[in-house]
Amino acid sequence: MRWAIGGPLAGAGLDADPGKRAVVMTMGALHDGHLELVRRARAEASENGQVVVTIFVNPLQFGAGEDLDTYPRDLDGDVAKLAGAGADLVFAPTRDVVYPDGDPVVRVAAGHVGEVLEGEHRPGHLDGVLTVVLKLMHLVRPDVALFGEKDAQQLLAVRRMVRDLEVSVEVVGVPTVRESDGLALSSRNAYLSADERERALALSRSLRAGAAAAATGPAGVINAAREVLDEADGVVVDYLALVDPVTVDAVADDFSGHALLLVAARVGTTRLIDNQAIEVSPEVQR
Ligand code: PAJ
Repeated sequence: MRWAIGGPLAGAGLDADPGKRAVVMTMGALHDGHLELVRRARAEASENGQVVVTIFVNPLQFGAGEDLDTYPRDLDGDVAKLAGAGADLVFAPTRDVVYPDGDPVVRVAAGHVGEVLEGEHRPGHLDGVLTVVLKLMHLVRPDVALFGEKDAQQLLAVRRMVRDLEVSVEVVGVPTVRESDGLALSSRNAYLSADERERALALSRSLRAGAAAAATGPAGVINAAREVLDEADGVVVDYLALVDPVTVDAVADDFSGHALLLVAARVGTTRLIDNQAIEVSPEVQR
Protein backbone atom coordinates (compact mmCIF):
# COMPACT_ATOMS: atom_id res chain seq x y z
CA MET A 1 0.00 0.00 0.00
CA ARG A 2 1.24 3.50 -0.84
CA TRP A 3 0.19 6.73 0.78
CA ALA A 4 0.21 10.49 0.35
CA ILE A 5 -0.10 11.79 3.88
CA GLY A 6 -0.06 15.51 4.47
CA GLY A 7 1.07 16.19 0.91
CA PRO A 8 -0.33 16.28 -2.59
CA LEU A 9 -1.49 13.21 -4.52
CA ALA A 10 0.63 14.01 -7.55
CA GLY A 11 3.63 11.71 -7.67
CA ALA A 12 2.39 9.59 -4.78
CA GLY A 13 1.04 6.77 -6.83
CA LEU A 14 -2.08 7.35 -8.91
CA ASP A 15 -1.47 4.65 -11.51
CA ALA A 16 -1.36 6.07 -15.02
CA ASP A 17 -3.54 3.30 -16.40
CA PRO A 18 -5.04 1.53 -13.40
CA GLY A 19 -7.77 -0.38 -15.17
CA LYS A 20 -10.69 0.53 -12.96
CA ARG A 21 -10.03 3.00 -10.12
CA ALA A 22 -12.40 2.98 -7.16
CA VAL A 23 -12.44 5.61 -4.43
CA VAL A 24 -13.75 5.54 -0.87
CA MET A 25 -13.90 8.97 0.72
CA THR A 26 -13.78 9.16 4.52
CA MET A 27 -13.08 11.48 7.41
CA GLY A 28 -10.98 8.82 9.15
CA ALA A 29 -11.47 7.20 12.58
CA LEU A 30 -12.19 4.16 10.48
CA HIS A 31 -14.50 1.37 11.62
CA ASP A 32 -15.87 -1.72 9.96
CA GLY A 33 -18.48 0.30 8.04
CA HIS A 34 -15.72 2.19 6.26
CA LEU A 35 -13.75 -1.02 5.74
CA GLU A 36 -16.79 -2.67 4.15
CA LEU A 37 -16.75 0.16 1.57
CA VAL A 38 -13.06 -0.54 0.96
CA ARG A 39 -13.73 -4.27 0.51
CA ARG A 40 -16.53 -3.46 -1.95
CA ALA A 41 -14.19 -1.03 -3.72
CA ARG A 42 -11.63 -3.84 -4.04
CA ALA A 43 -14.29 -6.03 -5.67
CA GLU A 44 -15.35 -3.18 -7.99
CA ALA A 45 -11.78 -2.39 -9.04
CA SER A 46 -10.83 -6.07 -9.38
CA GLU A 47 -7.27 -7.32 -8.95
CA ASN A 48 -5.61 -5.09 -11.51
CA GLY A 49 -7.56 -1.96 -10.62
CA GLN A 50 -6.67 0.62 -7.98
CA VAL A 51 -8.46 1.31 -4.69
CA VAL A 52 -7.89 4.81 -3.33
CA VAL A 53 -9.07 5.81 0.15
CA THR A 54 -9.17 9.47 1.10
CA ILE A 55 -9.06 10.65 4.71
CA PHE A 56 -9.91 14.29 5.20
CA VAL A 57 -11.95 15.99 7.92
CA ASN A 58 -13.55 18.57 5.66
CA PRO A 59 -14.05 21.87 7.52
CA LEU A 60 -16.59 23.05 4.94
CA GLN A 61 -19.21 20.56 6.08
CA PHE A 62 -19.08 21.44 9.80
CA GLY A 63 -21.25 24.23 11.17
CA ALA A 64 -20.31 26.66 13.92
CA GLY A 65 -20.40 24.86 17.27
CA GLU A 66 -20.16 21.40 15.67
CA ASP A 67 -17.40 18.88 16.38
CA LEU A 68 -14.75 19.86 13.78
CA ASP A 69 -12.04 20.35 16.41
CA THR A 70 -12.90 17.28 18.46
CA TYR A 71 -13.75 14.91 15.59
CA PRO A 72 -11.90 11.64 16.34
CA ARG A 73 -8.59 11.34 14.49
CA ASP A 74 -6.37 8.22 14.33
CA LEU A 75 -4.27 8.32 11.19
CA ASP A 76 -1.81 5.57 12.21
CA GLY A 77 -4.64 3.24 13.19
CA ASP A 78 -6.48 4.07 9.96
CA VAL A 79 -3.50 3.30 7.74
CA ALA A 80 -2.98 -0.06 9.48
CA LYS A 81 -6.66 -1.00 9.00
CA LEU A 82 -6.63 0.03 5.34
CA ALA A 83 -3.62 -2.13 4.53
CA GLY A 84 -5.60 -5.14 5.72
CA ALA A 85 -8.76 -4.20 3.83
CA GLY A 86 -7.30 -4.07 0.35
CA ALA A 87 -6.56 -0.38 -0.25
CA ASP A 88 -3.75 0.45 -2.69
CA LEU A 89 -3.33 4.14 -1.95
CA VAL A 90 -4.27 6.32 1.03
CA PHE A 91 -4.64 10.04 0.40
CA ALA A 92 -4.76 11.98 3.67
CA PRO A 93 -4.23 15.60 2.68
CA THR A 94 -3.99 18.62 4.93
CA ARG A 95 -6.42 21.51 4.58
CA ASP A 96 -4.01 23.54 2.43
CA VAL A 97 -3.54 20.65 0.02
CA VAL A 98 -7.27 20.37 -0.57
CA TYR A 99 -7.91 24.12 -0.44
CA PRO A 100 -4.60 25.73 -1.53
CA ASP A 101 -6.21 29.12 -2.14
CA GLY A 102 -8.10 29.12 1.14
CA ASP A 103 -11.70 28.04 1.41
CA PRO A 104 -13.19 27.73 -2.06
CA VAL A 105 -15.09 30.70 -3.41
CA VAL A 106 -17.03 28.63 -5.93
CA ARG A 107 -18.95 25.77 -4.30
CA VAL A 108 -21.54 23.13 -5.08
CA ALA A 109 -25.07 23.81 -3.84
CA ALA A 110 -27.13 20.76 -2.95
CA GLY A 111 -30.32 22.76 -3.47
CA HIS A 112 -33.54 21.29 -2.12
CA VAL A 113 -31.83 17.97 -1.29
CA GLY A 114 -29.56 19.88 1.08
CA GLU A 115 -32.26 22.00 2.67
CA VAL A 116 -34.62 19.40 4.12
CA LEU A 117 -34.04 17.01 7.06
CA GLU A 118 -30.27 17.20 7.73
CA GLY A 119 -30.28 20.60 6.03
CA GLU A 120 -32.77 22.01 8.52
CA HIS A 121 -30.51 21.05 11.40
CA ARG A 122 -27.14 21.47 9.68
CA PRO A 123 -27.55 24.34 7.20
CA GLY A 124 -24.91 24.22 4.46
CA HIS A 125 -23.66 20.79 5.56
CA LEU A 126 -24.47 18.97 2.32
CA ASP A 127 -23.15 21.88 0.22
CA GLY A 128 -19.83 21.40 2.03
CA VAL A 129 -19.99 17.63 1.48
CA LEU A 130 -20.70 17.93 -2.24
CA THR A 131 -17.99 20.54 -2.72
CA VAL A 132 -15.31 18.30 -1.23
CA VAL A 133 -16.68 15.17 -2.92
CA LEU A 134 -16.49 16.83 -6.35
CA LYS A 135 -13.04 18.21 -5.55
CA LEU A 136 -11.76 14.79 -4.44
CA MET A 137 -13.29 13.22 -7.54
CA HIS A 138 -11.27 15.63 -9.67
CA LEU A 139 -8.08 14.92 -7.73
CA VAL A 140 -8.46 11.13 -7.70
CA ARG A 141 -10.23 10.72 -11.08
CA PRO A 142 -12.07 7.51 -10.09
CA ASP A 143 -14.26 5.35 -12.30
CA VAL A 144 -16.33 4.32 -9.28
CA ALA A 145 -17.03 6.04 -5.95
CA LEU A 146 -18.54 4.13 -3.02
CA PHE A 147 -20.71 5.70 -0.35
CA GLY A 148 -22.55 4.20 2.61
CA GLU A 149 -26.31 4.01 2.79
CA LYS A 150 -25.84 4.95 6.46
CA ASP A 151 -25.67 8.57 5.32
CA ALA A 152 -28.68 8.21 3.05
CA GLN A 153 -29.28 11.87 2.35
CA GLN A 154 -25.59 12.35 1.53
CA LEU A 155 -25.72 9.41 -0.88
CA LEU A 156 -28.85 10.83 -2.55
CA ALA A 157 -27.21 14.26 -2.84
CA VAL A 158 -24.06 12.76 -4.40
CA ARG A 159 -26.14 10.75 -6.87
CA ARG A 160 -28.08 13.88 -7.74
CA MET A 161 -24.90 15.95 -8.22
CA VAL A 162 -23.41 13.31 -10.49
CA ARG A 163 -26.60 13.27 -12.57
CA ASP A 164 -27.23 17.00 -12.61
CA LEU A 165 -23.62 17.99 -13.36
CA GLU A 166 -22.71 15.06 -15.66
CA VAL A 167 -19.84 13.87 -13.46
CA SER A 168 -18.54 10.72 -15.16
CA VAL A 169 -18.20 8.61 -12.03
CA GLU A 170 -20.34 5.60 -11.17
CA VAL A 171 -21.78 5.93 -7.66
CA VAL A 172 -22.24 2.71 -5.68
CA GLY A 173 -24.21 2.62 -2.42
CA VAL A 174 -23.17 0.12 0.27
CA PRO A 175 -25.64 -1.18 2.89
CA THR A 176 -25.23 0.04 6.46
CA VAL A 177 -22.95 -2.05 8.66
CA ARG A 178 -24.39 -2.53 12.17
CA GLU A 179 -23.30 -3.91 15.51
CA SER A 180 -25.02 -7.19 16.40
CA ASP A 181 -27.52 -5.23 18.56
CA GLY A 182 -28.52 -3.01 15.63
CA LEU A 183 -26.49 0.14 16.32
CA ALA A 184 -25.22 1.55 13.02
CA LEU A 185 -21.43 1.89 13.09
CA SER A 186 -20.33 5.52 13.18
CA SER A 187 -17.14 7.32 14.09
CA ARG A 188 -19.28 9.45 16.43
CA ASN A 189 -20.27 6.35 18.47
CA ALA A 190 -16.88 6.88 20.15
CA TYR A 191 -18.44 9.84 21.97
CA LEU A 192 -21.12 7.69 23.65
CA SER A 193 -20.87 6.55 27.28
CA ALA A 194 -22.03 2.98 27.98
CA ASP A 195 -25.38 4.32 29.16
CA GLU A 196 -25.79 6.56 26.11
CA ARG A 197 -24.87 3.70 23.80
CA GLU A 198 -27.74 1.71 25.30
CA ARG A 199 -30.13 4.61 24.72
CA ALA A 200 -28.86 5.04 21.17
CA LEU A 201 -30.29 1.62 20.30
CA ALA A 202 -33.70 3.33 20.18
CA LEU A 203 -32.84 4.70 16.72
CA SER A 204 -32.39 1.33 15.01
CA ARG A 205 -35.21 -0.15 17.10
CA SER A 206 -37.59 2.55 15.86
CA LEU A 207 -36.59 1.86 12.24
CA ARG A 208 -37.27 -1.84 12.69
CA ALA A 209 -40.66 -1.05 14.22
CA GLY A 210 -41.40 1.20 11.24
CA ALA A 211 -40.38 -1.51 8.78
CA ALA A 212 -42.53 -4.06 10.57
CA ALA A 213 -45.52 -1.75 10.05
CA ALA A 214 -44.91 -1.39 6.29
CA ALA A 215 -48.23 -3.04 5.50
CA THR A 216 -50.17 -0.37 7.39
CA GLY A 217 -49.26 2.54 5.09
CA PRO A 218 -47.11 5.65 5.62
CA ALA A 219 -48.90 6.91 8.76
CA GLY A 220 -48.70 3.45 10.32
CA VAL A 221 -44.94 3.30 9.65
CA ILE A 222 -44.29 6.71 11.17
CA ASN A 223 -46.52 6.02 14.19
CA ALA A 224 -44.83 2.71 14.93
CA ALA A 225 -41.37 4.25 14.72
CA ARG A 226 -42.36 7.32 16.76
CA GLU A 227 -43.81 5.18 19.53
CA VAL A 228 -40.40 3.58 20.11
CA LEU A 229 -38.66 6.96 20.18
CA ASP A 230 -41.29 8.43 22.51
CA GLU A 231 -40.68 5.62 24.98
CA ALA A 232 -36.91 6.08 24.88
CA ASP A 233 -35.28 8.04 27.69
CA GLY A 234 -32.65 10.65 26.91
CA VAL A 235 -33.16 10.58 23.15
CA VAL A 236 -33.99 13.97 21.65
CA VAL A 237 -35.37 13.52 18.14
CA ASP A 238 -34.38 16.06 15.47
CA TYR A 239 -36.56 14.44 12.83
CA LEU A 240 -38.30 11.22 11.89
CA ALA A 241 -39.52 11.14 8.30
CA LEU A 242 -40.67 8.76 5.61
CA VAL A 243 -39.49 10.18 2.30
CA ASP A 244 -39.32 9.60 -1.42
CA PRO A 245 -35.73 8.41 -2.03
CA VAL A 246 -35.25 10.72 -5.01
CA THR A 247 -36.86 14.00 -3.98
CA VAL A 248 -36.32 13.51 -0.22
CA ASP A 249 -39.83 14.93 0.29
CA ALA A 250 -42.18 13.28 2.78
CA VAL A 251 -44.42 10.76 1.04
CA ALA A 252 -48.17 11.40 0.84
CA ASP A 253 -50.59 9.53 3.11
CA ASP A 254 -51.76 7.35 0.22
CA PHE A 255 -48.22 6.55 -0.97
CA SER A 256 -47.17 3.00 -1.68
CA GLY A 257 -43.82 1.75 -2.93
CA HIS A 258 -40.16 2.30 -2.15
CA ALA A 259 -39.52 4.83 0.63
CA LEU A 260 -36.82 5.70 3.15
CA LEU A 261 -37.46 6.03 6.85
CA LEU A 262 -34.90 8.44 8.32
CA VAL A 263 -34.19 9.38 11.91
CA ALA A 264 -31.83 11.86 13.53
CA ALA A 265 -31.57 12.25 17.29
CA ARG A 266 -29.28 13.52 19.98
CA VAL A 267 -28.19 11.22 22.76
CA GLY A 268 -26.44 13.37 25.33
CA THR A 269 -24.34 15.72 23.22
CA THR A 270 -23.88 13.20 20.39
CA ARG A 271 -25.96 13.55 17.25
CA LEU A 272 -26.74 10.27 15.50
CA ILE A 273 -28.50 9.44 12.22
CA ASP A 274 -29.85 6.20 10.85
CA ASN A 275 -32.26 5.07 8.15
CA GLN A 276 -33.94 2.08 6.60
CA ALA A 277 -35.44 1.40 3.18
CA ILE A 278 -39.08 0.33 3.40
CA GLU A 279 -41.46 -1.06 0.80
CA VAL A 280 -44.67 0.62 1.94
CA SER A 281 -48.06 -0.89 1.19
CA PRO A 282 -51.06 1.36 0.59
CA GLU A 283 -52.84 2.49 3.71
CA VAL A 284 -55.36 -0.06 4.90
CA GLN A 285 -58.89 1.14 4.14
CA ARG A 286 -61.30 0.68 7.01
P1 PAJ B 1 -17.48 9.49 7.03
O1 PAJ B 1 -18.52 9.81 8.04
O2 PAJ B 1 -16.10 9.17 7.50
O3 PAJ B 1 -18.01 8.29 6.16
C1 PAJ B 1 -17.28 7.85 5.05
C2 PAJ B 1 -18.13 6.86 4.27
O4 PAJ B 1 -18.40 5.72 5.07
C3 PAJ B 1 -19.50 7.46 3.87
O5 PAJ B 1 -19.83 7.04 2.56
C4 PAJ B 1 -20.42 6.84 4.90
O6 PAJ B 1 -21.76 6.73 4.46
C5 PAJ B 1 -19.78 5.47 5.07
N1 PAJ B 1 -20.21 4.85 6.34
C6 PAJ B 1 -20.11 5.37 7.59
N2 PAJ B 1 -20.65 4.53 8.50
C7 PAJ B 1 -21.09 3.45 7.80
C8 PAJ B 1 -21.75 2.23 8.16
N3 PAJ B 1 -22.07 1.95 9.42
N4 PAJ B 1 -22.07 1.36 7.17
C9 PAJ B 1 -21.78 1.63 5.88
N5 PAJ B 1 -21.14 2.76 5.47
C10 PAJ B 1 -20.81 3.66 6.42
O7 PAJ B 1 -19.41 10.68 5.09
C11 PAJ B 1 -18.34 11.25 5.26
O8 PAJ B 1 -17.31 10.72 6.01
C12 PAJ B 1 -18.03 12.60 4.64
O9 PAJ B 1 -19.20 13.36 4.55
C13 PAJ B 1 -17.36 12.51 3.24
C14 PAJ B 1 -18.23 11.78 2.21
C15 PAJ B 1 -16.00 11.77 3.35
C16 PAJ B 1 -17.08 13.93 2.69
O10 PAJ B 1 -16.29 14.65 3.57
